[in-house]
Amino acid sequence: MPLDTLHPDGAAGLLDGLKDQPLDPMLTLLKVLRSDPRPGKIDLGIGVYRNDAGDTPVMRAVKAAEQVLIDTQETKSYVAAEGDAGFVSLLAPIVLGADMAASDLFSGMQVPGGTGALRLALALVQRANPAAKVWLGQPSWVNHTSLVRAAGLTPVDYAFFDQATQTILFDEMMTTLEAMQAGDVLLLHASCHNPTGAEFTDDQWRAIGDLTVRKRVLPLIDMAYQGLGRGLEEDAANARALVARAPEALVCVSCSKNFGLYRDRVGALWVKGVDAPAALRARANLTLIARSMWSMPPDHGAAVVRIILSTPELKTAWLSELDEVRTRINTIRARLAQALPQLPGIAVQTGMFSMMPISPENAVTLRNDHAIYMIENGRINIAGLNAGNIGRFAAALTPYLPKP
Ligand code: LMR
Repeated sequence: MPLDTLHPDGAAGLLDGLKDQPLDPMLTLLKVLRSDPRPGKIDLGIGVYRNDAGDTPVMRAVKAAEQVLIDTQETKSYVAAEGDAGFVSLLAPIVLGADMAASDLFSGMQVPGGTGALRLALALVQRANPAAKVWLGQPSWVNHTSLVRAAGLTPVDYAFFDQATQTILFDEMMTTLEAMQAGDVLLLHASCHNPTGAEFTDDQWRAIGDLTVRKRVLPLIDMAYQGLGRGLEEDAANARALVARAPEALVCVSCSKNFGLYRDRVGALWVKGVDAPAALRARANLTLIARSMWSMPPDHGAAVVRIILSTPELKTAWLSELDEVRTRINTIRARLAQALPQLPGIAVQTGMFSMMPISPENAVTLRNDHAIYMIENGRINIAGLNAGNIGRFAAALTPYLPKP
């Protein structure tokens, strides 16, 4: 059959009819940065931890666990659609706390990274309620909107943060969220908000918890940076309290950052059901959906985490490396706050990110004229700064900031 019969709209082939698509801003930045030959580039782009030398080394505990894995692994045969059950049960108390980890209201599984967790969680929501709206405080992680749409759901943006004053628009947000309907989803960052670094207070978390219960809205927790803000427990505490009160919840976890396992795609997803059979039924649905998306999650990184968490010396080593990571981020954050007194918010924000109140054009100028790479929405990765470049960054940025 001639092609023009197959494609009466004139496209030469089936795939030729696809529309051009813009690249994700994060991935575009990564490409441009890699091809920039200038020495002294400052990379504040993609959210990976960097040490003082600007490197993202494999954690020592991970290296040691990988050696154990090489020495002991007998097969590369499939594990399971739900992944490594040992990994899931050892990670559960770290994420959910001991009580919820032991509760049969929760059922968890391994997934490929935090993105896999979100994609699967949203697919489950779509299956349960295709009309669900997903409420997204903006700005949010650049991938959140795409993930919601890819699952066939409708994102609803609301204003979360004012970049100029570096504050959460809490009252405005709570007023907007009154429009949520039963069966909708409220996506919340557990801590170390990406891209703003802004944290709700304990009281604000409680008020959001009240609202989700009153509105019968499903909380979807994105926990991608546990341990990089105030501490492993502290970074989970408010999200846990909210999940404990919610009749149903979804908790999406990434081990990319706190175990430095970015490229190994290690993550987990827990579902909380109204009762134990509901949680198991939800997980059976998750497993079925996962089967048609990636079939089985990659094993290597999850096996590494399992070995670390089940070997006391390795667990201690990992916790102390995570302390080093957090301490470095917080030290750099404090130095940056000193260098930029016109942005006092930086000192109280947490995690790797803050958002500079500059225009996309200014961000491009900083890139072109100073080889300073940040996302055009003004987000910087604090870990890309160090004693050697922080002064240069602050001096280049200052002309674009409001006067102190
Ligand atoms: C980031 O926000 O930079 C990271 O989560 C990496 C990514 O995939 O976007």
